[in-house]
Amino acid sequence: MTRGDYAPAQVLFGGDWSPEQWDPATWDEDLALMRRAKVNTVTLGVFSWSALEPTEGAFVTDWLDEILERITAAGIGFFLATPTASPPPWFTRAHPDALPVRPDGTRLTHGSRDTYAISAPAYREASRRIARRLAERYGDHPGLRGWHLHNEYGTLDHGPHAERAFQAWLARRYGTIDALNRAWTTAFWSQGYADFAEITPPRATQYLPNPAQAIDFRRFSSDEMLAAMVEQREEIRSVGSTAPVTTNFMLPTWNHLEQWSWADEQDVVSLDHYLDTVGPDAEAHVAYGSDLARSWSGGPWVLMEQNARGIRVDGRTVAKGADRMIRHCLGYIARGSQSSLFFQWRQSAGGSEQWHGALVPHAGGDTRGFAAVERLGGILERLAPVTALPADGPLVRSEVGILWHADAWWALETPDLPSSHLSYSAEVRATHRSFWRAGIPVDFVRPLADLSAHRLLVLAAQYPLSDAQVTWLEEFVEGGGELVVTYLSGLADEHLRIATGGYPGRLRELLGVRGEELLPLPAGERITLSDGSEAEGWTELLETTDAEVLAAYTHGELASLPAITRARRGAGRVTYVSAGWTQEARDQRLSALAAELGISPTLPGAAERGLEAVRRRSAGADHLFLLHHGAAPVTVRADGQDLLSGDSATGGLRLEPGESAVLGLAPDAPITLLED
Ligand code: GAL
Repeated sequence: MTRGDYAPAQVLFGGDWSPEQWDPATWDEDLALMRRAKVNTVTLGVFSWSALEPTEGAFVTDWLDEILERITAAGIGFFLATPTASPPPWFTRAHPDALPVRPDGTRLTHGSRDTYAISAPAYREASRRIARRLAERYGDHPGLRGWHLHNEYGTLDHGPHAERAFQAWLARRYGTIDALNRAWTTAFWSQGYADFAEITPPRATQYLPNPAQAIDFRRFSSDEMLAAMVEQREEIRSVGSTAPVTTNFMLPTWNHLEQWSWADEQDVVSLDHYLDTVGPDAEAHVAYGSDLARSWSGGPWVLMEQNARGIRVDGRTVAKGADRMIRHCLGYIARGSQSSLFFQWRQSAGGSEQWHGALVPHAGGDTRGFAAVERLGGILERLAPVTALPADGPLVRSEVGILWHADAWWALETPDLPSSHLSYSAEVRATHRSFWRAGIPVDFVRPLADLSAHRLLVLAAQYPLSDAQVTWLEEFVEGGGELVVTYLSGLADEHLRIATGGYPGRLRELLGVRGEELLPLPAGERITLSDGSEAEGWTELLETTDAEVLAAYTHGELASLPAITRARRGAGRVTYVSAGWTQEARDQRLSALAAELGISPTLPGAAERGLEAVRRRSAGADHLFLLHHGAAPVTVRADGQDLLSGDSATGGLRLEPGESAVLGLAPDAPITLLED
């Protein structure tokens, strides 16, 4: 299988199932409920290490054999996890050095999960062993839909094993200690190293750490965890299992992985996505997670986990409601997910997450919650034609790209930046939200990627840029591309060394501007620009060298100086936004720019009425997903049929608020929103 080819015959529906937490009578009930809801996939083994290997080297698999027999008889397939995210007590007793160490030197103890030191040889060996053992026993099982390696890699270790591995990684990256000293600016505060062996992970220290050391440690940690994942994959392959391999990424709150290089090592990308807002923004968040996962995967992807019941926000869980839960599931599928999988199947009676939502709630199958799950199962069954892949081209056509790279996330987490209120994910998400609100499809773009499909590219808070990345951007613009660059982009090189001579140093020539001072605004203060738009958080003292001014500051000492500029380069143009856009200003300017470029929404007029429309391409057909989040009925006309209701849309299909439809259409068939 090549990445981008993951095409199960049906939408995968189900979730994490932990039969080891229950007795066989509950297994019977579970299987009966799974049949009722048309569940076709479960994920097994995620945290089952102590059940599979209760003492070192003694493997107990009869319970899993029995579970597989039962689900196979019920026609249910499975992802099999390697349980390495939660080593069992015997392991940590025997190998206390394999427990992770915090920057302050605290060595964590057993008692939760994810307590592993990724570079500890004993941990790596035990992980390889159990991965191999599982592959030997189950690697050619006909129901195996894929290997789910580990769970949400992401524990950072600052202990002695990490120290040695970090030193070796640095030696490979820099070659000589002089090169490292230059890149890290170790002349500052007397940090000059004579040997790689003197370097430690960034640990608790008297005052600020070195930012170059901090970001390199994040890169190293991502690479180290990736190496551990690849080792598991190789064990599995070495015993002949050819089932697709994935590991579940996690959004949105933390990010310890550089997803593009991780995607290269998997057959399909999978994502755990937990919404963090209950307002209308939850729907925009579904789209954001989906567009990231599809872009990382380079096509179809697997939604491995979501919360069935509610959204956790402000310390409480807010119920989603059946229609909304269904619209969210369809929102992921519209943007390339081949699944609707959940954490978890049955709500746990005990253990740390006993209050986390599940498909089967504590109250059981005779509940409104489970009725919604059954409704969802019926809907997903009718979506089987959607999972077939188009013969060529993308799943969702998009002319807009947003650059994504974990380096920028990590750079903005280094200490003592000009403002401590900076967040890469907030900037990127706000940019994506603007296009979502306009109904315009978006891809995320890997640095140095082929941009021939994208006419508009946005760089939001892309703080570090390498030489190659700068050249790539210049070529995009020269060749006719439209580039938008926001503040905090291009200030530094990949070692977080500021490009001097005026901000943003890496892009100064391309943008035709020169900034002298970065002037963050006090929290809560809003200023108005000369075009009437508002800004918050950030301003710059800027002059143009070779660009026109689209909007000027109007306040204080910056009054009448450039705020937003535009330069022409070759056949293209580049806009620089030096002020912190409010969401409204960002929405307004980006949708106006898209309109100017002739980039249209999927269904013009729909987004304004709360109707989300996404066109997913499949084999010989398009599927138009219509998700109605708005408050008044809407009618859509297209020459096709709704897979969900069976109704024809040829004369117009009416959707009430909360409803959804998935129209099967001829490729590129026209679609219209009718006036009510
Ligand atoms: C995920 C994790 C699951 C479960 C879930 C709860 O991040 O993979 O095991 O803990 O969160 O939201």
